[in-house]
Amino acid sequence: MKPFIIAASILSADFTRLGEQIAEAEAAGVDWIHVDVMDWHFVPNLTMGPFIVEACRRATNMPLNVHLMVERPESMLEAFARAGASHIIVHVETCPQIAGTLKEIQSLGCQAGVTLNPATPASALEPALDLADLVLVMTVHPGYSGQEFEPQVLPKIAEVRRRLDSLGSSARLEVDGGVSAHTIQQVRDAGADTFVTASAIFKYPQGIAAGVLALRDALEMDAFRS
Ligand code: DX5
Ligand code: ZN
Repeated sequence: MKPFIIAASILSADFTRLGEQIAEAEAAGVDWIHVDVMDWHFVPNLTMGPFIVEACRRATNMPLNVHLMVERPESMLEAFARAGASHIIVHVETCPQIAGTLKEIQSLGCQAGVTLNPATPASALEPALDLADLVLVMTVHPGYSGQEFEPQVLPKIAEVRRRLDSLGSSARLEVDGGVSAHTIQQVRDAGADTFVTASAIFKYPQGIAAGVLALRDALEMDAFRS
């Protein structure tokens, strides 16, 4: 099992102080910064473009895990790679030629990720699994942070884990949506090794450092128990 990765989604950060918030998350022991790109078409929200990725790149050396919730992501890959994305994740629902899209991301020097909505079955990932550097399973319908974790997705996480293992893939299995100190153990037990969270870090009532500590404690407690 790989070391666990915590990716802080800046969707819940205070954008008047983005650099400070990223520095605080990094000092608290977060591993990656997750950037949620939304286009008002694939999801009903409009958020960040390459300009914000470029600002994050100047704020930290941590890997930038860029999640594209957009129609026709192929047209944007180069701009996000140039802005400093380390990983680019596309939705299988938006990519008719998913294998080609993942190869293009890799040819731009980024790690290629594929993701799917809660309602999309794991079988939709089939043409992508042997190529992907990471697979992201959504545990909320994408669009907003602060939504409730959907536990009915847990069997799909386990299924993706089995499919990756049977291929001998070393891809990371990442989960995004409603991940908190209360839900992270179930996600880990289903086979995830990488955890995205926005609210449980940037909106944690006792602050960012306490939020990250609560997530790490929950992950470790689980490890001791099993
Ligand atoms: C949801 C985004 C998530 C979101 C997670 O559409 O893809 O990355 O920021 O937010 P929380 O952790 O609050 O559910
Ligand atoms: Zn996301």
